[in-house]
Amino acid sequence: MSTPPSRPITESKEDGDYIKLCEEYNCLIETIPKGNGWRVKHLHNYNGFWLNPIYIKANLLLHAYFKPHPTDIFLASFMKSGTTWLKALMISTINRHRYSFSDHHLHYHGPQSTFPFLETELHSYPITDFTDMSAPRLFSTHFPRTLLPPSVTSCKFIYICRDPKDVLVSKWFFMNKIRDKDLPPLSFDEALDLFCQGISDFGPIWEHVLSYWRASLDAPDKILFLKYEEVKEQPEAMVRKLAAFMGEPFTKEEDEKRVVENIVNMCSFENLSNLEVNKTGVFKFGKAEVGNREFFRKGKIGDWQNYMTEEMKERIDGIIHEKLKGSGLTLGESA
Ligand code: A3P
Repeated sequence: MSTPPSRPITESKEDGDYIKLCEEYNCLIETIPKGNGWRVKHLHNYNGFWLNPIYIKANLLLHAYFKPHPTDIFLASFMKSGTTWLKALMISTINRHRYSFSDHHLHYHGPQSTFPFLETELHSYPITDFTDMSAPRLFSTHFPRTLLPPSVTSCKFIYICRDPKDVLVSKWFFMNKIRDKDLPPLSFDEALDLFCQGISDFGPIWEHVLSYWRASLDAPDKILFLKYEEVKEQPEAMVRKLAAFMGEPFTKEEDEKRVVENIVNMCSFENLSNLEVNKTGVFKFGKAEVGNREFFRKGKIGDWQNYMTEEMKERIDGIIHEKLKGSGLTLGESA
């Protein structure tokens, strides 16, 4: 059963290692390319991906300190692709024997504290080591596959992606909410332009999606590749898939008790967004904080239509089509 961590620390590395890592980071950040940021002033291009500097440090820490267990399960996503939803579905599926639906863990924990998000947990010394979490430990990450340490990639991953046009709109709203107060608001035109250049936290989105798509083709037993739209259209079938993939398929008795239906209902946008913890709770990461309510906006497919002209749509679809060509994957294109 997965439990969220307290804040254990690792003693396995000397402070000196951490200091060296910080020096490496300071040096790196001065030398790699910079682009306009969405939340902070600049994103930096680290090994082909645009990252907020704090997440570059988190990535170095991940490589240096994180010790995976063979039973760990990771949720990976490009931000605003449905992470919050999948987190809820995963935790309630894996812990379904532990909590009752009327008094559930999710009623008291906001979307980010159901299980740890590696990027925000790994930021400074002493380093969280997650050793008090029971198996299977669940983690989430926005890092692309190619930025993960090889030791982690032998674990199981669930990846969720979404129509990039809906991702862009969702991200634009979200980032403006949490954008540094000393920066002017990010206009939609600028966001779109940056997005299309690939300059977007954890972007380019197409490289992110492809990193997991290719890995899922190589190891389908290790990576479950999902689309937000499919989960929306067939939530019960997807929860069954999730359960089987995580090694806990539903039993006949559970079917008779309508457990899958209960999980889907509990994790619905309507239910989660109306929980007190998600209306008023706050998630703190480093010096920043964000209201849990910001993770629930509309939860719809196709909201991009309310913000994009036909020309904008064509521009994004054209880029995505071109970038995914030959991969066997399509995203956000009408059939
Ligand atoms: P919108 O901004 O389009 O509404 P992430 O969790 O990766 O940050 O993604 C956030 C997006 O998922 C937001 O999209 C949010 O509203 C939507 N979302 C959150 N919870 C959801 C749920 N239970 N069902 C469907 N969509 C959900």
